[in-house]
Amino acid sequence: MLRWTDPYTTMDDKWRSQFVCLDDFETRSSELLPQRTWVYYSSGAGDEDTLRENRDAFRRYWLKPRVLRDVSVRDMSTTVLGEKIDMPICISPTAFHGLAHPEGEIATCKAAADMKTLMILSAGSTTSLEDITAARPTSAKWQDIYFWPDRTATRDMVKRAEIAGFKAIVVTVDIPEIGSRRKHIQVFGKSLQPLQPGMQLKNLKKYMNQSSDSIDDGKQFAKSDNRSTWRDIAWLKTMTTLPIVLKGILTVEDAILAAEHHVQAIMVSNHGARQLDSVPATIDVLSEIVAAVGDKLEVYVDGGVRTGTDVLKALALGARAVFIGRPVLFGLACNGEEGVKAVLHILREELSTAMALTGCSRLRDISRDLVTTKSCWSKL
Ligand SMILES: Cc1cc2nc3c(=O)[nH]c(=O)nc-3n(C[C@H](O)[C@H](O)[C@H](O)COP(=O)(O)O)c2cc1C
Repeated sequence: MLRWTDPYTTMDDKWRSQFVCLDDFETRSSELLPQRTWVYYSSGAGDEDTLRENRDAFRRYWLKPRVLRDVSVRDMSTTVLGEKIDMPICISPTAFHGLAHPEGEIATCKAAADMKTLMILSAGSTTSLEDITAARPTSAKWQDIYFWPDRTATRDMVKRAEIAGFKAIVVTVDIPEIGSRRKHIQVFGKSLQPLQPGMQLKNLKKYMNQSSDSIDDGKQFAKSDNRSTWRDIAWLKTMTTLPIVLKGILTVEDAILAAEHHVQAIMVSNHGARQLDSVPATIDVLSEIVAAVGDKLEVYVDGGVRTGTDVLKALALGARAVFIGRPVLFGLACNGEEGVKAVLHILREELSTAMALTGCSRLRDISRDLVTTKSCWSKL
C-alpha cells in the first residue's frame, strides 16, 4: 500500500527503463565495477554449488494462485522485533559498501529509510555506526557483530550501537573461519581483502593499529573467534538488553539451541554461499526450522532472493521477512542511494503484484498452502 510519495517515481525514465528487474543491476555492476570489487561481491565458496542452488531452489517451488478475492488494496507492512516496516524486505549486512559507491553505507541507509525498511549495518562497514545515525537518526537499523578474539571490541561495539539507537544486535555465527573463496584468493592473494589503500573499516578502526592505515590491520576482524560457543550468547545477554538475532542458522538442531538460549530471532542464512559450499539452499531448510521454533522466535531468511515471487514463497514457507545482500551492493554500484531505492522498489512492486495474482491482500493471507513443489504439481 503506497502511503507516501514513492522516491522511485521521481527517477529519470531513461534510467528506469534500463533496470526493470534485480538481475539488471547485477549485469550492469559486472561492467561498472573494478574486477577486484566485482569478484569480492559476486563470488561464493568452493565450486559455488550452493551459490547456484540458493537461486535455483526457489524455482522448484510453484505458486497456487487463488482467484476472485478482493485484492484492490495490498498492505505489505509488518514488524520485525517490534520495528514497523512498510514491506517484509530488509537489507542483510554486507561489508565494504564504500567499494561500490563513495557514499557507501550512508547511501544505503538513506535508501532503506526512504523506502521505510530496515538495514543491518555490517561489522565490516566502511562507515561508522555513529555516522549512520547522524545521517538518519531515526532510521530502522540493527548492528551486525562477531565474537572477535578480543571480546572488548565486541562489547564495545554493542555499547556504541545501543547509544547510537540501533534496535537489535545481529550476531553472525557462521564464520569461525573464512570459507574457501577460491576466486578471492586468485584475485587478492593471501590478504583476502578487496579494500583499496586509504579505505578503512570505519566501524572497527579504533581497535586497530592506530599508527597505520594498512588494510591488513583489519584481518583479525574478518572472522569470529573460532573458540566461540553458545556460552558467548549467554555472555552477550548479560551485557545488553537489546534483542539478539543469530544470523547463519541452517539446521533445526541449532534453531532449537537458539530458542533455548532465548534469542529473539534467527536468520536462516548460508552467508550468501560464501562460507561452506555444499550446504542446502536456505529456502529448502526454512520450513522445517519454522516448524521447530517459529512459535518461540522470529525467523527470517536470506540467500538468493531476487524476485517478488521469491519473497512470496519465503513468506509462505514461514519467514517473517526476507533480507537481501548482493542486490543492494549492485544497486549501490549502479546509482548510489537511488540505485538501492530502485532495487527495493522493484522487489516490493513485484511482491505486490504476486500477492494480487495469488489472491492475497495482506501478509497474513500468505499461507503455507500457497506453495507446492514442482514434483507435487505435476502429479495432480
Ligand atoms: C560482499 C558481501 C559481504 C558480506 N559481508 C557480510 C558481513 O559483514 N556480515 C554478515 O553477517 N554477512 C555478510 N555477508 C552475507 C550477507 O549478509 C547475506 O547473508 C547474503 O549476501 C545473502 O545472500 P544474497 O547476496 O544472495 O542476497 C556478505 C555477503 C556479501 C555478498
